[in-house]
Amino acid sequence: AIERTLILIKPDGVKRQLTGQILSRIEAKGYEIAELKQVSATREQLEAHYEEHVGKPFYEPLVEFMASGPLVAIIAEGQNVIPGFRSLAGTTDPTTAAPGTIRGDLGRDWGLKVQQNLVHGSDSEESAAREIGIWFA
Ligand code: CMP
Repeated sequence: AIERTLILIKPDGVKRQLTGQILSRIEAKGYEIAELKQVSATREQLEAHYEEHVGKPFYEPLVEFMASGPLVAIIAEGQNVIPGFRSLAGTTDPTTAAPGTIRGDLGRDWGLKVQQNLVHGSDSEESAAREIGIWFA
């Protein structure tokens, strides 16, 4: 099915000037950039976005990291883009993410409390709808 997903280029990706490379990979895969903006996340947006992680040991450092600099919010559209972008992004930990993926090729392990792993992508149609509402209200 044609889906829409919410992608965030996290502050590490923006700071490292990887926005263009990450957008290229999304476009090269055939997904359309339907909306795109650079934003400084508010605490409220981040608490809503990461509500399922409240209470986990990495939650506070994660919210701090996501507020540490601008991020790029994207709505991407295409055939099965929700699982497709997750696959393009690679697994959470950049050390073991497969080569060929965004995290596997470009991600760095900084030895910090939070995996600074360059991108976020919605994991289901329900989260995509919810997350699009948070970032593109
Ligand atoms: P993401 O999957 O986009 O959303 C949750 C984020 O929390 C994840 O990316 C990582 O940045 C971070 N994260 C998830 N699990 C861990 C973990 N075990 N240790 C540190 N950070 C994590």
